[in-house]
Amino acid sequence: MKHTLEVMISEQEINQALDTMAEQINRDYAGVDSLLVVGLLKGSVIVMSDLVRRLDGNVQMDFMTASSYGSSTESSGDVKIVMDLAQSIKGRHVLLVEDIIDTGRTLSKVLALLNSREPASLAIASFLDKPTRRVVDVDVKYTGVAIPDEFVVGYGLDYAESYRQLPYIAKVVPSDGE
Ligand code: XMP
Ligand code: MG
Repeated sequence: MKHTLEVMISEQEINQALDTMAEQINRDYAGVDSLLVVGLLKGSVIVMSDLVRRLDGNVQMDFMTASSYGSSTESSGDVKIVMDLAQSIKGRHVLLVEDIIDTGRTLSKVLALLNSREPASLAIASFLDKPTRRVVDVDVKYTGVAIPDEFVVGYGLDYAESYRQLPYIAKVVPSDGE
């Protein structure tokens, strides 16, 4: 599809939202021995690296890849774990980091799986939220920016695997021809 990009959230706005998220997280986990921050690949990799560098205390990182079969722009809820965590989360304080929550299907499946492993606590931080798209109710404790129902790229988010590296978030606008 021929398209252009329109900046929706600037690098400066991203940094402000991250500062706010990190303040809340640092406050909430101040009394905790260690925090395991889990990123869902690949989308979370950029926000994860920016967020953990704002966190205090003993922070550890791990990653998992969950793939959701469906169209390129809508998840189906048929979520498969393609790469699991490298460690046990039993008794750990876990913060799951996502790039975006849309219908909530992916996160609700991953959440159920991780909860079954008996962490001491499990909370979600999602940089973007499309609240009007929610199909499954998921408790997202930390959100960066709520956005309208538009397909966006950049800051970890892709369009056919491209644009993840953009330091800002942009709307994909179809242009003439297709
Ligand atoms: P669900 O619907 O399960 O979807 O909450 C979450 C996943 O859907 C992808 N997603 C997007 N990817 N721009 C993207 O590049 C978007 O606007 C968008 N909305 C949803 C993303 O992979 C996310 O993890
Ligand atoms: Mg994703």
